[in-house]
Amino acid sequence: MTLRHVFAATVLLTTMTLSTFALAAPPAPELPVARIASPGDVLAVAVTTDKDGRPSYAVSRLGKPVIAPSRLGFIFIDAPKFERHFAISGQKTRTFDETWEQPWGERRSIRNHYNELRVTLAETKALKRRYDVVFRVYDDGVGFRYEFPDQPTLKEVKIGQELTEFTIAEPATAWWIPAGLWNREEYLYHRTPAEEVGDAQTPITLRTGNGLHVSIHEAELVDYAGMNLSRVENRTFRALLTPGIGDGSVVRTAPFNTPWRTLQIVDSAGDLVTSSLILNLNEPNKLGDVSWVKPMKYVGVWWEMHLDKKTWESGPRHGATNENVMRHIDFAAKHGLGGVLVEGWNVGWNADWFGNGEDFSFTQPYPDFDIEKLAAYAKSKNVRLIGHHETSGNAAHYEKQLGAAFDLYQRLGIDAVKTGYVADAGQAKVTGLDGKLHYAWHEGQDMARHHLKVVTEAAKRHIAVNPHEPIKDTGLRRTYPNWVSREGARGMEFSAWGEPGNPPEHEANLVFTRLLAGPMDYTPGIFGMKTRAPDGVATTWAKQLALYVVIYSPLQMAADLLDNYEANPKPFKFIEDVPVDWEDTRVLNGEVGDYVTIVRKDRHSENWYLGAVSDEEGRELSASLSFLDPGRRYTAQIYRDGEHADWKRAPQDIVIEERSVTSADTLTLKLAPGGGQAIRFVAQ
Ligand code: NOJ
Ligand code: CA
Repeated sequence: MTLRHVFAATVLLTTMTLSTFALAAPPAPELPVARIASPGDVLAVAVTTDKDGRPSYAVSRLGKPVIAPSRLGFIFIDAPKFERHFAISGQKTRTFDETWEQPWGERRSIRNHYNELRVTLAETKALKRRYDVVFRVYDDGVGFRYEFPDQPTLKEVKIGQELTEFTIAEPATAWWIPAGLWNREEYLYHRTPAEEVGDAQTPITLRTGNGLHVSIHEAELVDYAGMNLSRVENRTFRALLTPGIGDGSVVRTAPFNTPWRTLQIVDSAGDLVTSSLILNLNEPNKLGDVSWVKPMKYVGVWWEMHLDKKTWESGPRHGATNENVMRHIDFAAKHGLGGVLVEGWNVGWNADWFGNGEDFSFTQPYPDFDIEKLAAYAKSKNVRLIGHHETSGNAAHYEKQLGAAFDLYQRLGIDAVKTGYVADAGQAKVTGLDGKLHYAWHEGQDMARHHLKVVTEAAKRHIAVNPHEPIKDTGLRRTYPNWVSREGARGMEFSAWGEPGNPPEHEANLVFTRLLAGPMDYTPGIFGMKTRAPDGVATTWAKQLALYVVIYSPLQMAADLLDNYEANPKPFKFIEDVPVDWEDTRVLNGEVGDYVTIVRKDRHSENWYLGAVSDEEGRELSASLSFLDPGRRYTAQIYRDGEHADWKRAPQDIVIEERSVTSADTLTLKLAPGGGQAIRFVAQ
């Protein structure tokens, strides 16, 4: 069957169910269809309208349907709905091919090669409104967005819901976290048949019976509501926009575009990780020279609070004291780590701060934290303080102090800030356009505006930003490279106090779901496995080291207590050595939620690094070293699970050894239950 035939068939499905189609296919009604294929003819998209003028799109891969015909459209709350009585009134195609360089990242250069189809849909009745749907079709995925031109009958719109659908053509297993629950993005992953998914956040990742992997997400979330997915029937998901602070989810005035709706479509889990679709769909760097954005590793006055050994608030157990911070600065300087995060440094923590950010001052330190002296001390040691702005979700209060807070940091040379939005879902606070205080969802339109305001204000002062309890990542780091990392999932903190903590499969889920969106400040590197969480830290030591390679972030924390590093210099050596900025990244093997092996080449040397992690199963993985430079010898510094290693019984059982290897070698990586392996390949 040729591509043309497949689309003739898929278009028909707009008016019938799959099973009726399989039984008997009546003659196709003659409706115009707009089509485009990817540069290598791998993926193809078709757009049409049905007999009632309802637009839909379908996606196929190598001639086989992946997304069955799925509807497009909107419900407005102040205008008739935008779904029926449309006809294709025009279509345009173009090809684009460029290679661009990331200032920092998981690889230096990225090819952006797509074929674009712009379909103009015009209302055939009454208001005669129109919009374009623009598809960018790559060999490894599709992005599409709605573009609303300026027009007499569509000015300001209040979008109640988007009617964008994604109908997965074949039975599939899905990995997903629920949407709309109180703890925002911090949930364990579910693995269910697609038909059992509830309201889900994106990225959601699906695998069909024949091994096709599909991940649905979005790119360039600017001045719009974050998209969740609601399963409306069988394997049909519909966009579920995060509610706004007033009527509807989004208020915009034409001309405007929605974010890109993205579908990564590849035939292995690893190809999801190496796809650059989401970055490519974002606008190029708008900040100009960003050489001031410095990827770095950091330690912090942090884990001790999560273990309840120290406190954020002032008092006898205060963490952010001059003495403790100076100890961290000395440690960072001695071990070549770039930064020191200090939490609990500022006035406001003594109040009931969770969800109540109005007491925070972002310029007034506690008396036992001499910010001027500490910033100067850090500078003298070539270490940078990382500021912390916990807002408790009160973005309105934070915005009032934003300028002064960043001016202070700029004056002191503090050029990175971790922000935080600890408040239940729906309990963030923003100032509306009416000047009043409103409760807001963390991923609503107003919070999308807030985060971009923080990032652009920070950029003016050459400060990098790393939000926790953030808005989801949609690749905006391409446009604003000071937006270096974020949390946005269950991080290591859950292994300190979570009930339950993060289970052994957690990171093998994150790599193929949350991390497809962008870097995560996961905060690995824990050696003290007994914590307040019932199972403690559910990994081996070797896996903690492997996480520095497996989880990509230009800011990587060495999160444990300094005592634990000082007592264990040998395994800590890998944390000292591992870079945070990469020339190249490849995935050697992996299955969602089970295991993964990733190799990355240092951006500033000829050395390569390997990280492999497993879930609760022990396993043997084969790793061909063909990525190494042929004809060159490397010393492999291996950090592997020992013979008895097991996350539950013997997490500290680690073997550190060296051997000489070349690109012709294949290693067998033996991973313990909850285990991993980290290797540094030093070019000889
Ligand atoms: C939650 C963040 O994820 C964590 O890193 C931080 O320490 C606390 N909030 C306090 O701000
Ligand atoms: Ca958090």
